[in-house]
Amino acid sequence: MSSKKRIVALQGDGIGPEIMAEALKVIGWFNENAGTDIEVSKGDIGGMCIDKHGVPLDDATLEACRKADAVLLAAVGGPKWDKVDYNIRPEAGLLKLRKELDLFANLRPAKVFDALVDASTLKPEIVRGLDILIVRELTGGVYFGQPRGIETLENGERRGVNTQVYTTSEILRVARVAFDLAKKRQNRVCSCEKANVMESGKLWREEVTALHDAEYKDVALSHMYADNCAMQLLRNPAQFDVIVTDNLFGDILSDEAAMLTGSLGMLPSASLGAADENGRRAALYEPIHGSAPDIAGKGAANPLAIILSIAMMFRYSFDLGEEADRLEQAVEAVLGKGLRTADIMSKGCTRLSTEDMGRALLDTLAEGASASKAAASA
Ligand code: IPM
Ligand code: MG
Repeated sequence: MSSKKRIVALQGDGIGPEIMAEALKVIGWFNENAGTDIEVSKGDIGGMCIDKHGVPLDDATLEACRKADAVLLAAVGGPKWDKVDYNIRPEAGLLKLRKELDLFANLRPAKVFDALVDASTLKPEIVRGLDILIVRELTGGVYFGQPRGIETLENGERRGVNTQVYTTSEILRVARVAFDLAKKRQNRVCSCEKANVMESGKLWREEVTALHDAEYKDVALSHMYADNCAMQLLRNPAQFDVIVTDNLFGDILSDEAAMLTGSLGMLPSASLGAADENGRRAALYEPIHGSAPDIAGKGAANPLAIILSIAMMFRYSFDLGEEADRLEQAVEAVLGKGLRTADIMSKGCTRLSTEDMGRALLDTLAEGASASKAAASA
C-alpha cells in the first residue's frame, strides 16, 4: 500500500476491550506481513467515556475521528449506565459520532457461513448460501427528527413525541449507495417503507423510483412494506439481494437478518459518509453485536465480527480488496478447521477463548501467506 492510513480505535465497553485487542493484532499482522501502513490511535466512547469525561463522546475523540481515514469501534453500553440521563447514555455517544461525521449509509451484510449453517434457527435449506446486504439510512428519520421529547399536558397526562422525517436529498443519497452496491452483487434492490400509512414512506418510494428510472434502469428495483419484509425475511430470505430502508426499519430488519445467519457474533458493518472530491469518505466500522456485558472479561467473546469489520475497512476505505478477501478467507478457514468461540460452538468442534481465536486467525493468515508465496515461486 502506497500511503499511510490513520485510524482511531474505540474499544468502548463490555467485551469491547477484549475483541479490540484481537482486532489490533490483526492490523499489526497486515502491517508487518502484507505491506499495509496503518497507524492506530485510541479514543474514548460510551460508558467508559462517561466515567472518564462525563460525556459519552469527548471532543478530543470526535476531532480525532474527524481527521482519521477510518474509525474502528468495538461496542458501547452496559447496565452500569442504565440510569444516566437519556442524552448522555453510552448509545448517545454512538449516535453523536454517526451524526457528526454524517455517516448516512449503514451497510449491514447478513451472510451465512457454510460451516455455520446449522447454527441458524431456520432450516438449513432456507439459509444455506444466504448473502443479503441491508443498507440502512443512519442519520435521519425518527432517530433525529424534531420535535421530540416528553411533555406534561394540562390535564396532567404525559405525552412522548418523536418525528419521522425525510427529505428528498436524504433519500436519494442512501438509495444511490444501495444501487451502486447492487451493481457489484446480484443487481437487485428492494426498497422498504410503510408508504401505505406514512407520508415519509410515500415520499421515500416516489424518490427511490424516480432515481431508479433516471439513473439505474439496469438494476432490478422492487418495493415492499417493511412489515411484509420482516415476514419475507423469515419465509424466503434468498429472494433478497440489497435491501434499502430507513433508520428505524433498518435497525429492526438488520437484527432480524443477522439472526437468520445464526451467528450475530460473526457480522460486521460499515457506516459511510459522502465521498469528497478526492474520493475520501468518513467511515466507521463496527461489529453488529453489542457490548455483551454478561460475558465481558471472561474471554468468551467472539472477535471475528470486529475482524471482519477490518476486512470491510480494507475494502471500502483503503481500496485493499485483495487484503479484504484474504482476511475473509482466513475467517472461513478457521471455521473450516472446526474452531469456535462459545457463541457459535457446535458438536465435534473445538471451543476457543477470545484470545485463542485471535491467535488461530493469525496462524491461519500466516499459513495462507506462506501458501501463496509457495504458489508464486512454484
Ligand atoms: C444499532 C443499535 C443502535 C441503534 C443503538 C445502540 C443506539 O441498535 O446500531 O443497531 O439503534 O441504531
Ligand atoms: Mg440495532
